Amino acid sequence: MDQTRRKLLQAGSAAGFLMAAPRVGFAGAHAATAMTARTARVQLLPAQYSATEIWGYDGELPGAIIRVKQGERIRRRFVNDLPQPSSVHWHGLRIDNAMDGVAGLTQPAVPTGDSFDYDFVAPDAGTFWFHAHNRSVEQVARGLYGALVVDERIAPDVDRDEVLMLDDWLIDPETAQIETNFDAAHNRSHAGRRGNFVTTNSQYNLAYDVKQNERLRLRLINTANARIFELGLSGLDGWALAYDGMPLAAPEKIEGALLLGPGQRVDLFVDVTAAAGETAYLLRVDDGQEYSQAAFRVAGTGATVRRPTPDALPANPGMDVGGLNNAQQFDLTMEGGAMGRLDAAVLNGERKSFRQLVSANQFWAFNGVIGMTDEPLGNLARGQTARVSIFNDTSFPHAMHLHGMHFREVLADGALGPLRDTLLMSGGQTRDIAFVADNPGKWLFHCHMLSHAESGMMTWVDVA
Ligand code: C2O
Ligand code: CU
Repeated sequence: MDQTRRKLLQAGSAAGFLMAAPRVGFAGAHAATAMTARTARVQLLPAQYSATEIWGYDGELPGAIIRVKQGERIRRRFVNDLPQPSSVHWHGLRIDNAMDGVAGLTQPAVPTGDSFDYDFVAPDAGTFWFHAHNRSVEQVARGLYGALVVDERIAPDVDRDEVLMLDDWLIDPETAQIETNFDAAHNRSHAGRRGNFVTTNSQYNLAYDVKQNERLRLRLINTANARIFELGLSGLDGWALAYDGMPLAAPEKIEGALLLGPGQRVDLFVDVTAAAGETAYLLRVDDGQEYSQAAFRVAGTGATVRRPTPDALPANPGMDVGGLNNAQQFDLTMEGGAMGRLDAAVLNGERKSFRQLVSANQFWAFNGVIGMTDEPLGNLARGQTARVSIFNDTSFPHAMHLHGMHFREVLADGALGPLRDTLLMSGGQTRDIAFVADNPGKWLFHCHMLSHAESGMMTWVDVA
């Protein structure tokens, strides 16, 4: 960028800063904290590149962490200063349907200049996140997300507790700006919108200073539109204690690669085993190459020995998936995408040919139907157990996310897997999940690869 333009931009942003009127904070006892979605410029790329325009909550990237204790109330007045309507979804929180933030299903999208009050109690301790849920394929890719941490009533014994939001950005290196081809047919019909610049907490070279034998709680959140992170540890040794915010019955030793699909989270408890002067890593494996996803510089020795294996985190209340024998059964077959094209499918109630679907930029179907329908995939009575057999009859992986309730996978031997809210499945797989429909309302059930969600992979269940 030439000097004059750089100066102009700097002057422009300084003037903007000076003229920005302070937002009137009605900081009385009854007011919700404002959370304003707006554009901002941040230094996302290395210093030799110009700043990147992003969309962020209060202009921050990621949005400021929302942190409460289990059972506490969260209130936010969402203010939309974006050029598009938006809404906020609280991913993984079992809250009232009216607060779920799905534009078009649980609330109308909030128009530019307008606001919406979110108000709910956080029932479960764990690692959650919030993100835009209107035109997510664009709005999440532009940066509209943040972490939501709900602390256990009794804090577990760790030296540090860090949130790591993993993302990738599709950047035009010439301009340092986010590519705006959000609706590109190729991404929609293949593996989704994958970025060319990977970050943790919007930093490409995130590093922490730690000590040997310290125990770190790392809350990993995959906020990427489509990337599946393959992760490993080096100079760190430890366990997974929770997936998607929900504690495991027993800590699970991390051995080998850890896969994290879009929308998924994992809580790791890791001990620093690297010696003073060394650097430990959370590694990302990409095409057989290892990269630093986050570095941990070991500055000295904490305790002389490691702690013993951690205890499991206390279970969150009331999510027993019992009564599988009486479960209401649903089948969901995923079809479409490149290499498995839809010959015909129903879109907006009408049967369409492949050619018509391509021109509508729609590529995926659930049970032969594309996108949202008036009728849900399942009508469930409150308290009933539902079992969904999902067949991925496509050549691509998908990350199925259920809103409002967590499920357990029904494993081949009939045993139940851990509670999750997002299931990562490969092409060709059939996997069964079961959940208790204990939260009334209209709950979205969709692929968290956001290009897929926008091009057909979205349905819902109704709990009466
Ligand atoms: Cu994290 Cu429907 O979304
Ligand atoms: Cu998908």
